[in-house]
Amino acid sequence: AFEPGRLRARRQAVLAGLPKDAVLVIAAPRHTAGDLFSYRASPDFLYLSGQSAPRLVMLLGPNEDVLFAPPQDPRHELWNGPRLAVGTALAKASGFAEVAPLSKRKERIKAALERSGGKLYVLGAEPKDLGLPETTKLRSPAERIHFLRQVKDAGELALLQRACDVTAASLREAIKSVQPGQFEYEVEAVIGYLFRRYGAQRPGFASIVGAGPNSCVLHYSANSRRYQAGELIVMDVGAEFHGYTADITRTVPTSGKFSKRQREIYELVLRAQAAGIAACKPGLKVSDVHAAARKVIVDAGYGQYFLHGTSHWLGLDVHDVGKYSRALVPGMVLTVEPGIYIAKESLGVRIEDDILVTEKGPVVLSAGVPRDPDALEALLAKRGVGKSLVSPLPKRETPPKRPRFFRLR
Ligand code: GLY
Ligand code: MN
Ligand code: MN
Repeated sequence: AFEPGRLRARRQAVLAGLPKDAVLVIAAPRHTAGDLFSYRASPDFLYLSGQSAPRLVMLLGPNEDVLFAPPQDPRHELWNGPRLAVGTALAKASGFAEVAPLSKRKERIKAALERSGGKLYVLGAEPKDLGLPETTKLRSPAERIHFLRQVKDAGELALLQRACDVTAASLREAIKSVQPGQFEYEVEAVIGYLFRRYGAQRPGFASIVGAGPNSCVLHYSANSRRYQAGELIVMDVGAEFHGYTADITRTVPTSGKFSKRQREIYELVLRAQAAGIAACKPGLKVSDVHAAARKVIVDAGYGQYFLHGTSHWLGLDVHDVGKYSRALVPGMVLTVEPGIYIAKESLGVRIEDDILVTEKGPVVLSAGVPRDPDALEALLAKRGVGKSLVSPLPKRETPPKRPRFFRLR
C-alpha cells in the first residue's frame, strides 16, 4: 500500500525543511494495549516509513536513512505471527537505505550527531531512550511533518479514495437496512461488517448512528436506542484503510420518505454544503468554506441551529494535522459538513463529504453514496435486501435455572 520511493521522498522532504545538518530520530510508539488489542501505528511514523509495527526507530540525517528493528524473536512470533525484522524484506518495503538492529541505535545516533555537528530533532522518544544525557535539548520535527501531511501525494490520495469508496458502499447498504423498531447499533453493525468485508482494517473513529433526539447529539456514539418511524437517522462513519480514514455523514428518514418539514431542513443543509464545497478552491481558506456554508443557513433564519465548524482536514487522522490558517492548495483534503440541529423537534440533519482540492475545482471523494434527497428515498425504497444477513438469536423467556447441588431434607 505504501510505495517505497514515495516514503523515501517524504523523508527527504522532511529533512529539506529543517536546517541542513539536522539529525532526526523518530520512534514508533510502544504497544501499550497488550497483544490482545490491535496496535495503532503513529500516523507520523506510518507516513514516513509505511510500517505499522511497534519497536521501530528511524534515524534520518545528511548521511543517514536508517530503520532500526528488533531482532527475530521465535517466541514472539509463535504467539503473534511472523513480522518483518532486520533484513532485506523490511528494507525493500520501506525503501530505507539501511536496516539495522535496534540494539545499535544509540551508538549510531551518537555518531550521526558528532559527524553533522547539527541539531537533534526527536519524536516519540526521551533523551535516555537514545543514550543521551537527560539534559539534552530535543527539538520536535512535528510541525514540519504536519505541514507536509497537509498536502496529500498520489499514494495517499489512492488510499483515501479507497477508504471513501468502502465507506460509501457500506453506507448505501446501511441505508437499505434501516427499519423502524431496530436499534441504532444494528445500523452501526451493518456498517462495521461491511468495512471489514470490503477490506478496510477498522473504523477510523467511533461510528455515530443517532435517530430522533440523538440526531441532535453531535458526537453521539452509544448508538443504543430503538428508533421509530417518522424520525431522521444520522449516520456519521468512516472506514480506515491502511491508516487513512474517510469521514462521511448521511441523514435519512427512517420511514423511507422525508416529511415536508424534514425535507425543508434537509434541502437547506444540502444547499449550504454545496456552497461550502464550491469554496474549496486554491487560495481560499477553511474559514471561507465555513463562511460560505454558514451564510446559506443564517440567511434562511437557522443560524442558531448550526452548532459547529464546517470543515476539518482529513487524512491519517480523522481530524487531521495542519494549521487552519493556511490557504488551500491542490492536494489538500477536507470535510464539508454543515448541519442543523433543532433539539425541540428532535430533528438533526448533517451532510458530510470529503473534498479534494484541485486546480480544476473541488473533487468529491465520497460521491459513491448519494446525498440528493430523491436519490436517498430511491435507495430506501429498496429496503429489505440486507435483512437476511442475520438470523435472530434464540428467544429465551426465562433465564437458565441455576443448578441445585444439594437439597435439605
Ligand atoms: N466524525 C467526526 C466528525 O465528523 O468530525
Ligand atoms: Mn468530520
Ligand atoms: Mn464525521
